[in-house]
Amino acid sequence: MAKLEVHYTINGRKHEAYIEPNLTLLDVVRDDLRLTGSKEGCGTGDCGACTMIVDGKLVTACLMLAPQADGAEITTIEGVAENGTLHPVQQAFLDKGAVQCGFCIPGMILAGKVLLDQNPKPNDYEIREAIAGNLCRCTGYTKIVEAIAAAAEA
Ligand code: FES
Ligand code: FES
Repeated sequence: MAKLEVHYTINGRKHEAYIEPNLTLLDVVRDDLRLTGSKEGCGTGDCGACTMIVDGKLVTACLMLAPQADGAEITTIEGVAENGTLHPVQQAFLDKGAVQCGFCIPGMILAGKVLLDQNPKPNDYEIREAIAGNLCRCTGYTKIVEAIAAAAEA
């Protein structure tokens, strides 16, 4: 299959890759660009482990073909901390003990970040709605919701 050249700005850095056009954005970011914070859980758009922010919107990167994101500004979990300081949502997950195995956490944190960017003082219902696309097999969600609420107060 003929390869395509794609260009992304990921976490503020420019990247290019030569890819087969049927690869997903998740495949390219993890396997070609070696940013492995985004996880593949289901591969079918159901779990949110692969969440990235693409041009300001939450995206399940396992469902987006890599060429669809050509030219996009992308944030992955690796780009959420700034200058060595954790994002308030990351810090709150630590402070609240909201992480168990960690597999869902990159997606949860990105969902929490986008929520607070758009709605700095969400209520519990709004927090639960914001993470509705992110499945956690470990925590029961209570501490995750508490952590995002705490980040809103930070
Ligand atoms: S791996 Fe993309 S939604 Fe589950
Ligand atoms: S902490 Fe294990 S899946 Fe969420």
